[in-house]
Amino acid sequence: MTARNLLFCSALVLASWGQAQENVITVNAKKAGAEIQPTMYGIFFEDINFAADGGLYAELLKNCSFEFPDHFAGWDISGKVTLRDDGPFERNPHYVRLAPSGHRDKHTMLENHGFFGIGVKSGEEYRFSVWARVPDGGSAKLWIDLVENATMEEDQKLGNVGLDISGKEWKKYTAIVKPRRTFPKAHLRVWGDGKVTTDLEHVSLFPVKTYKGHENGMRLDVAQALEDLHPGVFRFPGGCIVEGTDLETRYQWKNSVGPVENRPLNENRWHYTFTHRYFPDYFQSYGLGFFEYFQLAEEIGAEPLPVLNVGMACQYQNGDNAHAPATKEGLQQFIDDCIDLIDFANADPATNSWGKLRADMGHPAPFNLKFLAIGNEQWEKPFFDRLAIIAPEVRKAHPEIKLIGTSGPNAEDDHFRNGWAAMRELKADLVDEHFYRDVQWYKKSMNRYSDRAFYTKDGPRVFAGEWACHDRGKKYNHAGASIYEAAFMTNIERNADLVHMATYAPLFAHVEGWQWRPDLIWYDNLSTARTASYYVQQLYMLNRGTNVLPTVISLNGGSPAANPVPEGQDGVFASAVLDKDKNEIIVKVINTLEKASTSRIDITGLKLKTNVPAAADVVSLDCSNYDAENMPGKAEVVSPKSSTTSITAQKGTLSLSPTIPAKTFQVFKVKL
Ligand code: AHR
Repeated sequence: MTARNLLFCSALVLASWGQAQENVITVNAKKAGAEIQPTMYGIFFEDINFAADGGLYAELLKNCSFEFPDHFAGWDISGKVTLRDDGPFERNPHYVRLAPSGHRDKHTMLENHGFFGIGVKSGEEYRFSVWARVPDGGSAKLWIDLVENATMEEDQKLGNVGLDISGKEWKKYTAIVKPRRTFPKAHLRVWGDGKVTTDLEHVSLFPVKTYKGHENGMRLDVAQALEDLHPGVFRFPGGCIVEGTDLETRYQWKNSVGPVENRPLNENRWHYTFTHRYFPDYFQSYGLGFFEYFQLAEEIGAEPLPVLNVGMACQYQNGDNAHAPATKEGLQQFIDDCIDLIDFANADPATNSWGKLRADMGHPAPFNLKFLAIGNEQWEKPFFDRLAIIAPEVRKAHPEIKLIGTSGPNAEDDHFRNGWAAMRELKADLVDEHFYRDVQWYKKSMNRYSDRAFYTKDGPRVFAGEWACHDRGKKYNHAGASIYEAAFMTNIERNADLVHMATYAPLFAHVEGWQWRPDLIWYDNLSTARTASYYVQQLYMLNRGTNVLPTVISLNGGSPAANPVPEGQDGVFASAVLDKDKNEIIVKVINTLEKASTSRIDITGLKLKTNVPAAADVVSLDCSNYDAENMPGKAEVVSPKSSTTSITAQKGTLSLSPTIPAKTFQVFKVKL
């Protein structure tokens, strides 16, 4: 071989070797495929990890109505404070009496600790409210102090305000307190001038600035994090709390509506379920109730998806005991709960008492409820028998509502398969699947919804209702695990004809009050952190598109396939959508490898006009720092970054040639 030939051959080998290193992603834009449901990517809320009281719900005081089993839980008392039980709210009868101390220099007072303290911000206003009376007549002065107990300053007060109470009748009083400093762990002190006896009930403190300004509202930064996701569906209120450890302590939506002062306290099973994360003062005040859930869903632009009990307490905790009888009579209350809830959400206030209650609470227009899930993590005959009684009754009353069943807590076992078979038979519209799994499971499950022998189009659609990828053992929000969530979601997206909803879980966690992790959004008393998983979800929600575009990948010169990555391995994953409304093609590419991937994205089948786009917008989420975690009060270490990449055009094809860095999720947007 001559030196010239040798050079030529080496060049060829190098060229083909170079080519073989390139992954080619081909998107066929000729024909828009399956519609992507507006509900496709959403959120799942459960009151776990102090998600409601002490979290999303902006009430800053704990045990406002003195109804905790320890009636003074959350309160310090001094002087002559007594508990009484003939108060103005029949379902919360307890209140406190502050009597004169009997001495000028002794004081009667109450002090609330909030949830891990009370977070207050300098310059913000806080609305104190209380139901009060002077039982002997006349008037009394109350002092409301926000205090920093352990300060070295002369005065503990961060802010204070006075309040005049008068008359023997119970009345609601309000006053605004403005702290002069930001402090995460304030306490609220209420004390009298010590001259006359004063009765107090439902003592409350809210920031004036809540999400959308509602008085019984949501914490602004926490709710804003939800709005910024742009979720399509909002599942609530659980989770296991829907089931309860026993039926008496299940979530009962009817107790969560009407005046907030009269909503009875419920136990929260996350108070005691994990003894290594035990929170004896964790209860459900129901201050965040079904009216507030529906209102929030509307305000963040998501379809509400309530989950109601199917007549069964938690099967994990009870086996097949502790359930309501599997007869129409035995389940009547559960049937009524479903039908009445649909009426509460949608019925005309003029003709329906539940619709009237909704209107009285401030929302005469319907909430347009379309979906209802019955049962959370239930399995086998006890569940199937009960759903078979409840579902037809609900359908008879409300055929317009789509009903969601469940395949139980696991995503691959016999209960799961039997659950799906039963849901097919019962003609559920969707089936709720749960999979909290580690990285290895996700690597093996990247084709889950492409299994068309199991997921068939003549059956219910899929609702991946609770899922998250976590590192084995330690369950921190590792950025390195979130990259597998992004990769897994390409399979959800490619199978949008079958998968109609997917909601990561759990949604929230308080840094001082969590029982379960990883979680999507973390907070302390003053700030919120959006995790890498949050940004994965957000990138899908912001780039949902309207229709799937068929996409194949050729890895390293191999044959093109929707997902050519061998089961259990790392690689490059992709999916693409058309957004008909924005006239945009969006390609999502995830590189789970430890090294960068040289890629080419060919968008074929286009009718290119003369004015072809010269560049695509790119958003990148770099998850290569495996242990990186965004946490409240610390600098954000993982976040999406924007850039552009150039486009070349040739014969109906637009080509992009990005290098996808190791462990990175990239979204490419091409405006047509
Ligand atoms: O999200 C935490 C729990 O996980 C939910 O309550 C339950 O549905 C699942 O087991």
